[in-house]
Amino acid sequence: MALAYSPRMSTPTPPRQTPLSLSPEITLRNRVVIPPMASGTADLSGFVTPETVKHYARLGKASAGLLIAEYSFVHLSGKSEALQLGVNLDEQVPGLKKIAAAIHHSGAVAGLQLTHAGGKTERCFSGGVLHSPSGIRVPVKDRTLEIPTAMSTSDIYDWKAWFIAAADRAVKSDFDVVELHAAHGYGLNQWLSPLTNKRTDEFGGSLKKNARLLLDIVKEIRSQHPPLLLSVRLPGQDFMDGGLTISASIFLAQELQTAGVHVINVSSGIGGWRRPGARLGEGYLIEEAAVIQRHTAVPVIGVGGIETGAFIDELVRANRVSLAAVGRAILKDPETWGKEQLHGGACSGLRASERPSISTATDGRSILP
Ligand SMILES: Cc1cc2nc3c(=O)[nH]c(=O)nc-3n(C[C@H](O)[C@H](O)[C@H](O)COP(=O)(O)O)c2cc1C
Repeated sequence: MALAYSPRMSTPTPPRQTPLSLSPEITLRNRVVIPPMASGTADLSGFVTPETVKHYARLGKASAGLLIAEYSFVHLSGKSEALQLGVNLDEQVPGLKKIAAAIHHSGAVAGLQLTHAGGKTERCFSGGVLHSPSGIRVPVKDRTLEIPTAMSTSDIYDWKAWFIAAADRAVKSDFDVVELHAAHGYGLNQWLSPLTNKRTDEFGGSLKKNARLLLDIVKEIRSQHPPLLLSVRLPGQDFMDGGLTISASIFLAQELQTAGVHVINVSSGIGGWRRPGARLGEGYLIEEAAVIQRHTAVPVIGVGGIETGAFIDELVRANRVSLAAVGRAILKDPETWGKEQLHGGACSGLRASERPSISTATDGRSILP
């Protein structure tokens, strides 16, 4: 009997298109994540506008597995730009529900990133308050920020309560995932980093103590909302002398795993999310993500200049990371990116000379001490 010729039957699913379960209830349909990207479409009080909903419906056209909506301030004192989204008031829930609905309509799992800017803001945005762990100016590349005020113990408990209340609002708004922003120099990063946390009480003085506030927030959200998936955006390193190193970040990732997070989204720290000068090509922060993935059982998201489906296939096939975040390449044209890079052939849009190789990758061995 002659066998029917069926090329489809012999074509394996590309790794980027394979599903990933994050919990018994929630499975991502593929390995692509749209990372949080501020859209500047909220109103001056942080409320969702029709433009915000349109923005997320547009991003949904990329068909990513997980779409994490932009950094949203948990309290006015943590706001860092004029048209930033807020999750600081119960009245924002109806608007936030529209974002979650737009994301779900696209077939993606819906995430919301929560942030407090700490000392990385200007008083004109944050109601006149500028708080940070130790009153140390937060170094940023493009401007000189004011010196913030060191927080009292009761200020710290306020932050904790604000993050927990904001997570509760995210759940009420139908988000499946809440991400705590502990990277890019914002508030929770300032707690983790030895550059900005010089406290000598129970909230600072050792890496474990520096992580106390973040871990307390994680544990409380986990206990209040067991089905909610929790992600932490963690610096792979601070990219600044004297800051968090990759070894510190491995320790933090393992603490987060013990505390029950479901995903670790590895980016950069106080130095900001942009490409470090010496890093070339796609995946400029993958070194850090891969080394953290090797040292934890939690799925890790890697990021940094990723543009092609072929590159994501190589990352997933080699188990370097579980998920790949694609920001600007999707932002430019979500629908085309989804068609060509996620659903197209593994090499669509790529000339042979552009095909990436992991043969020279070190999976972090070069950055480990
Ligand atoms: C317009 C824009 C806004 C961003 N806003 C956020 C944000 O709200 N939260 C965050 O963690 N990162 C933010 N980022 C960083 C991205 O999540 C991502 O890490 C970065 O763009 C690198 O990925 P890419 O090279 O794929 O764009 C933003 C980046 C861009 C371009």
